[in-house]
Amino acid sequence: DRVIDLVYNNYMFLNDAALDVNPLLLSFLSAAAGGYIVHLIYVQRITTRSILDRLFATFCFYVKRLPIIRGLIQESMDTADQSIKVMIHKNDSSRDWLTTLPAGPMSRQDILLRSVQYDNRENSGLYAREKPDFLNGRVSGAVFNLEQDLEELRTYKGLFGQYAFSNPLWPQCFPGLRRMEAEVTKMVITMLNGGPECSGTMTAGGSMSIHQAILAYRNRAIKKGILFPEIILPSSAHIAFFKAAEMFGLAIRQIAVPEDTFVVRPADVKAAINSNTACIVGSAPNYPFGTVDPIEELGQIGLKYDVPLHVDACCGGFLIPFFADEQVPFDFRVPGVSSISADTHKYGLAPKGSSVIAFASKELRRFTYFTGANWQGGIYASPTIEGSRNGSAIAVTWGAMLYHGEDAYKNSAEAVRATTRAIREGIRGMEGMQLMGEGDICIVAWRNSIVDDYALSELMERRGFVLSPLQFPKGCHLMVTPMHTKGDFVGTFLAAMEKAIADLKKNPKSVTGGTCAFYGGTVNLPDRDIVKDLASIYLDNVYEFPPETSR
Ligand SMILES: *Cc1c(COP(=O)(O)O)cnc(C)c1O
Ligand SMILES: *[C@@H]1O[C@H](CO)[C@@H](O)[C@H](O)[C@H]1NC(C)=O
Ligand SMILES: *[C@@H]1O[C@H](CO)[C@@H](O)[C@H](O)[C@H]1NC(C)=O
Repeated sequence: DRVIDLVYNNYMFLNDAALDVNPLLLSFLSAAAGGYIVHLIYVQRITTRSILDRLFATFCFYVKRLPIIRGLIQESMDTADQSIKVMIHKNDSSRDWLTTLPAGPMSRQDILLRSVQYDNRENSGLYAREKPDFLNGRVSGAVFNLEQDLEELRTYKGLFGQYAFSNPLWPQCFPGLRRMEAEVTKMVITMLNGGPECSGTMTAGGSMSIHQAILAYRNRAIKKGILFPEIILPSSAHIAFFKAAEMFGLAIRQIAVPEDTFVVRPADVKAAINSNTACIVGSAPNYPFGTVDPIEELGQIGLKYDVPLHVDACCGGFLIPFFADEQVPFDFRVPGVSSISADTHKYGLAPKGSSVIAFASKELRRFTYFTGANWQGGIYASPTIEGSRNGSAIAVTWGAMLYHGEDAYKNSAEAVRATTRAIREGIRGMEGMQLMGEGDICIVAWRNSIVDDYALSELMERRGFVLSPLQFPKGCHLMVTPMHTKGDFVGTFLAAMEKAIADLKKNPKSVTGGTCAFYGGTVNLPDRDIVKDLASIYLDNVYEFPPETSR
């Protein structure tokens, strides 16, 4: 009763007070307040960050504007900038960086010589340490083709020569290219057990394939009348989904994967579905941990709520279909799967710059098209976000698929899986090691309870093995490529790990700098905008010339 009294009295009081206000002003203020609330809701809906996250970021933004704090932050950023410069440029002994066009033509020999010089160990400034020996398996992921088969390389050279100037935006000029893109897409769809109702396009890479899928589902949602479409995303999904959501203005509902299996729980996905859901996502396997989400259960959820399911098989797309024995359900045979991304430029072994996005129907692909009917330049249609595209990427991908054929992909897939399993079992037996998930397709992820994970990565890097650090939770992974299946990589790697753990255990503080300093320093920073700034400083420096002093 007292509460009601209180509310009533105050209501009356406010009501009386309002009588004194000019009615026009009052209605204007109410309209403005309403508009502002709608604006807040809208901003909240199209951002990929939660309310708390944004409130905290706003708080940090103002704190960072206090003169003292601003000075301190600027100082740290300058220090970071300096150390990144040292890392990228210090050992760069190259001179005469080009800032202007050469006045006259340069000869073929000079151009080719220059390009060889740019890339060799002594001159390449991109790597402060020795350039990692990626062709001998010293880097996680990154490159996939062994690049040793001269006949294969000659095939790509020939195709590039023939198609270097082609443009698939003009099928009438390049009918051969049109056919190649149709064939590559179809071969991938068949490989993924899709039928004649399926469709797809080639894209520039895994991230672009994911962008195409998210674009399709956003447009589908908008057509269904959803104003603020959302993606339901396992926390283990690739960063490209966050990029696509940011680019296309979708909100993300992130589902944390449990820290024992590192596989998303279907019940959590189901609970997150609402009337704004544009699509759900599963990975086969995911990038951080190499585990495969329960695609069959996710498909059932998708069917039940009429929500499309995208399967990210950027990694698994050219591996899982070629395993002889047990099948991992992930392709178009699984009811409810609406699209799959599969990277021709990863385990498809093609030169970089190509991937395929496959849809379960022709209608879904339609949602990725851009068409313009009223442009002064004419009626326009493009299947992907790009306009003109280079036909050479299509031609060499087509060449790679024909050159390898099913047998080579089978051999390579089995070798990658056998290596992954051997490394996983080796790691499992090491001191303090805990596997992050039981992935056995192409990625092994681990954390260590005795030594610091980032110090371990850094020490391994100093000893020639570049691994990928993971965060939230802290850990590290190795993506096994055909490079790692050669010789006794497994033995060498496991011995190096064993030794690194032992050395670190003896002397935990011996390793500082590099990965250890960067991740060790940033992982506990609550203000993630600072971390984003640091990442931008890195990118800035990639485009920098070596400092004047060293030139
Ligand atoms: C590599 C990868 C991607 C992104 O591919 P890019 O070709 O680097 O754009 C997406 N998802 C997974 C699982 C990947 O491994
Ligand atoms: C430059 O290269 C040398 C020799 O490879 C190495 O010892 C040194 O640490 C490098 N400097 C930096 C800043 O990375
Ligand atoms: C060629 O096209 C692919 C996409 O198909 C793109 O990733 C790549 O950057 C392009 N390369 C060049 C040199 O144009």
